[in-house]
Amino acid sequence: MNFTIHPVTWHDAEPMLRAVREAVFIREQSVLVELEWDGLDETSHHVLALSSTGQAIGCGRILPNAHIGRIAVMPEWRGKKVGTAILEGLLAYASSRHYPEVDLDAQVQALPFYRNFGFIEEGEDFMDAGIPHRKLRMKL
Ligand SMILES: CC(C)(COP(=O)(O)OP(=O)(O)OC[C@H]1O[C@@H](n2cnc3c(N)ncnc32)[C@H](O)[C@@H]1OP(=O)(O)O)[C@@H](O)C(=O)NCCC(=O)NCCS
Repeated sequence: MNFTIHPVTWHDAEPMLRAVREAVFIREQSVLVELEWDGLDETSHHVLALSSTGQAIGCGRILPNAHIGRIAVMPEWRGKKVGTAILEGLLAYASSRHYPEVDLDAQVQALPFYRNFGFIEEGEDFMDAGIPHRKLRMKL
């Protein structure tokens, strides 16, 4: 199962980015619509994963303040390194912009995924959109 990773703008790829996040965050994880669409997508840099047939299978974003988020992979594509490729794409963008560090709020259930990258875990767990999270930070 082959896939490719693409840096995209919200303007160019909104329908595909929305499709993945609606499936994963809104329908699967029951995140409220008004929390998911927080108005920060237009100014973010996005990464989109496509299957070899052009289907949107994953995505992620990084804000201008170097905050990474909204990493999602469609269920049938999990465990095939799509998430890894998306996060690598976001980190490569951060490096290209010479950001000194990046941070993200990881869902606690997904911490093993982020641990592979060398993030430092910070502070107490907190709730966001009804899901337990932990702050992660990494110097670049
Ligand atoms: C978390 C998520 C993005 C990972 O994407 P993925 O494509 O399945 O991840 P990868 O295949 O690149 O996994 C890389 C490694 O992380 C591990 N991993 C991935 N997701 C994990 C999870 N939820 N729990 C534990 N380990 C996980 C994999 O087992 C793999 O380990 P390995 O290198 O030893 O084989 C994906 O599971 C997902 O979309 N989950 C639902 C949405 C979500 O939780 N997003 C994160 C918000 S903070």
